Amino acid sequence: MKTPRFPLPSGKAALVPSVLAADFTCLKSSLAPVKKLADWVQVDVMDGHFVPNISFGPGIVSSVAAASSLPVDAHLMVSEPGLFIDAFAAAGAGLITVHSEARLAGACLKKIKDLGLKAGLALRPGTPLKRVLPYLQNLDLILIMTVEPGFGGQAFMPEMLPKVKAARELINKSGRGIWLQADGGINAGTAEAAALYGADSLVIGSALFSAENPAAFLRGLRRRL
Ligand code: DX5
Repeated sequence: MKTPRFPLPSGKAALVPSVLAADFTCLKSSLAPVKKLADWVQVDVMDGHFVPNISFGPGIVSSVAAASSLPVDAHLMVSEPGLFIDAFAAAGAGLITVHSEARLAGACLKKIKDLGLKAGLALRPGTPLKRVLPYLQNLDLILIMTVEPGFGGQAFMPEMLPKVKAARELINKSGRGIWLQADGGINAGTAEAAALYGADSLVIGSALFSAENPAAFLRGLRRRL
């Protein structure tokens, strides 16, 4: 199955369901109501070492890509992302994000680009923004974690908003089309705050999949942003 082209930043906020919060017994029906309203889907990959949780591997990327017909962003919360980039690329990820705190992050970003994919760099809440500077010219996405990575359903960390704002200023100054993604505790209220501070890609897990009507939730969010 051909991987759909990954969209470029357009000034409009991209809404990105995180399947970490979806019902794994029926991913296809979980994604059905939202796939026409979402811009792409995020698969949160956890290795039980970089974060104290284990989630899923490349197989879920293929399932999500097939179930949603949307581009898939693989957020690798793993200590050794270099071991897995080929597998996630082969599984159909259109964008792969590695953590700046992971081993050989720079070499991983280069490998992702060499494979013709979009490359993202993620920062834990405690990691300073300046960690992205050496890679800025090659990045397609900067992910600012607005919770400690590892679990969905956590509360948004408003103290990350100044970092979002500073990242927006950095991206604008670079003149490059780089997505600024906020991930963690995003709901209707915090989405508005994150967008106000400059995020243009919002990862939504629990707030979306626990909503009475996920499609209505996304439509409402689009109206607010
Ligand atoms: C944390 C995960 C979560 C997930 C979104 O490691 O990265 O942030 O994507 O989960 P919610 O929206 O439930 O916070």
